[in-house]
Amino acid sequence: MDLIPAPLHVQTGAGAPPFVLHAGTRIAAAPGTEAAARRLRAELSAATGFDLDPAPAGRDGDLVLELDPELAAEEYRLSAGADGVRLTGGGPAGLAHAGQTLRQLLGPAAYRSAPLPGASWTVPAVEVRDAPRFGWRGALLDVSRHFMPKAGVLRFIDQLAAHKLNVLHLHLTDDQGWRIEIRRYPELTGAGAWRERSMVGYRAGGRRDDQPHGGYYTQDDLREIVAYAAARHVTVVPEVDLPGHNQAAIAAYPELGNTDVVDTAALGTWTDWGVSENILNPSEATLRFYENVLEEVLEIFPSTFVHLGGDECPKDQWKASPAAQARIAELGLKDEFELQSHVIRHFDRWLAERGRRLIGWDEILEGGLAPGAAVSSWRGYEGGIVAANAGHDVVMCPEQHVYLDHRQADGEDEPVPVGWVRTLEDVYRFEPVPPQLDEAAAAHVIGAQANIWTEFMNDGRDVDYKAFPRLAAFAEVAWSDLPRDPAARDWAGFERRMAGHYPRLDALGIEYRRPEGPRPWQRKPGIVGRPLAGPPGPSGAGTAP
Ligand code: ACM
Repeated sequence: MDLIPAPLHVQTGAGAPPFVLHAGTRIAAAPGTEAAARRLRAELSAATGFDLDPAPAGRDGDLVLELDPELAAEEYRLSAGADGVRLTGGGPAGLAHAGQTLRQLLGPAAYRSAPLPGASWTVPAVEVRDAPRFGWRGALLDVSRHFMPKAGVLRFIDQLAAHKLNVLHLHLTDDQGWRIEIRRYPELTGAGAWRERSMVGYRAGGRRDDQPHGGYYTQDDLREIVAYAAARHVTVVPEVDLPGHNQAAIAAYPELGNTDVVDTAALGTWTDWGVSENILNPSEATLRFYENVLEEVLEIFPSTFVHLGGDECPKDQWKASPAAQARIAELGLKDEFELQSHVIRHFDRWLAERGRRLIGWDEILEGGLAPGAAVSSWRGYEGGIVAANAGHDVVMCPEQHVYLDHRQADGEDEPVPVGWVRTLEDVYRFEPVPPQLDEAAAAHVIGAQANIWTEFMNDGRDVDYKAFPRLAAFAEVAWSDLPRDPAARDWAGFERRMAGHYPRLDALGIEYRRPEGPRPWQRKPGIVGRPLAGPPGPSGAGTAP
C-alpha cells in the first residue's frame, strides 16, 4: 500500500474483497465531522467526478466519518472492507489525516484535480491505527528571498497536508524583501517589497540579473492563506525577523536603522545574499514600531507561536553606535548580546501578555533566553539541547540535516550546489531527539521542521525540486514511530514505498527530483554555488572549499 508517512499499525485483510468507490457512494458524517466530510468530498469528488452526496438521515453511508473522544486529537483509525470505509478521528485533525490515508489507498489518481477516463477506485481491505510522533511537523518557506505568489503558497499547503505535516513557518521578512502588508506602515511593502536586482548564485560567481524582484501578500491574502491552511489542519506560524535581517524595513523607514553610524536613507532593499550589517537600532521608538507591526500580525495569524527570528544579527553597528552604547549603559547591560536579548525579552513579554508565545532561532540563547521563549534549533542540535535542558520547548531543524536548500547529490548537474550533500536517505535518517537528552528534556522537543531557504530557488518549480522527495522522508521522520537510532531505520523499505509515492507526487503536479537526478531543464549550468565538503557532523563540522 506504500503509505507515506508509515502508520503505527496496518493490518491487511488477507484475501478479503476491497471496497469499490462508485458513482452512488454516500458519505455519512456523524455530528462534529461535517467540515471533515466537506473536505473529503471536495478532494475525492474532484478526483473521481462522483458527487459523494450525504447519506440520507438515519441511513448508513459507504464512507462513514465519526469522532471517538478516547483518541487523541490527531489520532485516527481507518477500517476498510467490501461494505465501506469507516474513518474515526480523535478530532477533526485526526479525521483529516484519515482522509489523506484514504486518498493514498485509492491510488495516485486520487491526487488529481479532475477524473481521467476509465478510472476505477478500490480501497483494499485494511485496518489502520495511527497517531503522530510529534505535534509540530513543520516546513519553513522563505518567501522573502524569492516571493512565492499566493496560489503557490496554497498549493504548498496542500502538499504539506498530503504528507500529514501541520505547521507552515512562513518567513515573511528579511533583508531582501518585506512580504506582509502592514496598514500602519505602507512603505514596508512600498519600498520594502521589492529589490532592483538579485545575485544569481553564490557571491563568488559574481553574477547578477537586472530583473526587479518583488511581491507581497495583502492582509486579506494572508487571512485566506491562514483559513485555507486551517481547513487542512495546518497552522501558519508567521516570522517577522528582528533585530537583524532587517535591511528591507530600514530601506522603507530609515529611522529604524543605526542612523548615527550609517546613512540609512541611502539604503535600498538588499540585492545581495548573505547577512546584512544593517540591523535595527535598539531605541524605544523601534520597539514601538515593531509592537505596532505585531499588533497587525496577531490580528491575521491566530497561531499561539509567533516567530521573531533573532538569528544572524551582526553587532558591528551597535558596537560603533554611540546611541546603542548609551542604551546598553542606560539599561545596565553587559554588551551587545545582552542588548539583543533585551529586545527579544521585550517581545517575549509583550506576546505573553497577549496570550501568544515567542519562538526564535537558537541565537536567542546568547545573552540569556527570554523566560517563555521556544527555540528553533538550526545551527545544530546544541542550541536545542541547552534550551530543552533549561525547560524550554524546542523545534529541531538543524541545518546539517534538514535544510532543504542544501544539495541532494554530489555532482556538477545538481542545481546551485550549496551546503552539504543531504540525500533522501540522509533526511530519512534524521533523528530529531538527540540521545543526550533525558526523558524530561526530550519531552521539550515538541517537533521537527525542514527549512526551505530560497536564495537559490527562483520560483515554485525550484522549490518543488528542492523540497521533494525529501519532504516525504521528513514527513515520515516527524510522524512515524521510526527507530530512534538512525542506522536502524529501514531505508530499503522506505525506498520501496517511495516507488509507490512518486506517482502520487506526479499526480499532484510536483516537479520533484527524480532518483536519477535533475532533468535537463532542472539544471542551472554555470550558476556558482558554495558546496561544503565532508559529512556534516552534528555540530556542523563541514568546511567551505
Ligand atoms: C537561519 O538559517 N539563519 C535561521
